Amino acid sequence: MMKGLILSGGKGTRLYPLTYTRAKQLIPVANKPVLFRVIEMIRDAGIEEIGIVVGQTAPEIEAAVGDGSKFGVRITYIPQDSPDGLAHAVKISQDFIGSDPFVMFLGDNVIQGGISTLIRDFTNHPEWQAQIVLKQVDNPQSFGVAKLRDDGTIEKLIEKPKEPPSDLALVGIYMFDHHVFEAVNSIGKSWRGELEITDAIQWLIDHGYTVSPHVHQGWWIDTGKPIDMLEANASVLDEITPSVAPDVVIINSEIDRRVTIEPGARIVNSTIHGPTIIGSGTVIEDSYIGPYTSIYYEVTIKGCEIDRSIILEKTTITDLDARLSSCLIGRSAQVSGKQTRPRTLTMNLGDHSSILIV
Ligand code: DAU
Repeated sequence: MMKGLILSGGKGTRLYPLTYTRAKQLIPVANKPVLFRVIEMIRDAGIEEIGIVVGQTAPEIEAAVGDGSKFGVRITYIPQDSPDGLAHAVKISQDFIGSDPFVMFLGDNVIQGGISTLIRDFTNHPEWQAQIVLKQVDNPQSFGVAKLRDDGTIEKLIEKPKEPPSDLALVGIYMFDHHVFEAVNSIGKSWRGELEITDAIQWLIDHGYTVSPHVHQGWWIDTGKPIDMLEANASVLDEITPSVAPDVVIINSEIDRRVTIEPGARIVNSTIHGPTIIGSGTVIEDSYIGPYTSIYYEVTIKGCEIDRSIILEKTTITDLDARLSSCLIGRSAQVSGKQTRPRTLTMNLGDHSSILIV
C-alpha cells in the first residue's frame, strides 16, 4: 500500500524573520498552512498513512497537525536531528516506509491540480522504480535540474547547477519504491554538505533502474522566499470557491464576488476587492483591501489600503497614508500611522526584517 512522506524539517532561513518563530510549512497561503494543503493533497490521492519528517520545529508542527484524524489520515512523526538533506530524510524514514512504495512531498511546495493522476500512473507502472515531476522555470539554477534525451528519458539530474543544462526544474514531489533506500545509503554528501535526493535519483539511473519523468503543466511554487509566498497566495486565491460565512457583519461596504469571509469577521465602510480572503474574527474598517490579499484571523485593519499581501493573525494595522502592497506581515505585529505632524516613522523591527519606503 502506497504511503506518504512529507518533509517538514529544514531551517527556513530564507523566510526570516517569520521563521524565527514559526515553522515555514505552517505559514498560511490563502489562510491555510502550506503543510495542511500538502496533507490534504496526499489524502485526496487515496493515501491514509503519512509520515512527517520534523526538525527543530517539531513541537509546533505536532501541535498543529496532531494524529492526522482531523484530516482523515494517520500521521507518524519522524524526528531528524539536523537538516542533513532530503536523501537523509528518506534514509531515516526507512522503518516507517518498510517495503511499500511512497510519494515524498516537500512540505513547502504548492502545486496546482493535486497528485491523484501521478499516483495512479506510478501504481500502474510497477516497472518504474521512481517517478519525478518536472516544471519549466525561468531560474533553473535555484533548483534540481533535469536534462532529458530526445526520447523523453532522463539523461542526467544536477542539484542547483551554475550552468543549467535545461530549464526543467525538479518539483518537490517524488514517487519511489524500496530501491531508493539502496540509493540513499550509497551516495555521499554534496558540496553544500547535504545528502541530496537529486544524487540518489541519479544513482538509480546510473544503476539501470527506471525513473520516469512527468512534466507538470499547471503552476508550481516552492515557497522558499517571501516573494514566492505571495505568488503562491495569489495562485491559490485564484482557485478557491468564494464564500461568506452567515454570521459575518457587513456595514456600508462593497464586497465583490471573489471574496471569502470567514466566521465572525466584521467589515465596516470598506471595499474588498477579490480574490481575497478575510479570516475569522477579523475587523476591517474604513479600508480598501485586495486584490490577492489574505488576512488571517483576529486581525484589525482601520484606515488602510492593502493589496497583494499576506497579513498573519492578531496583527493591527491602522491609519497608513501609503498603500501596503506585496507585504508579508507576521503575527501580532503593530503597524500604525499618525495623521498629525511631525510625520515620523517609528519602528520596533525584528531581525532580518525588510522595509521599503518610497
Ligand atoms: O522545491 C523543489 C526543490 O527542493 C528541488 O528542485 C531541489 O532539487 C531540492 O533539493 C529541494 O531544494 P531546496 O533547496 O529548495 O530544499 P530545502 O532545503 O528548501 O528543503 C525542502 C523541504 O524539505 C523543506 O520543507 C524543508 C525540508 N527538509 C529539508 C532538508 C534539507 C527536511 O525536512 N530535512 C532536510 O534535511
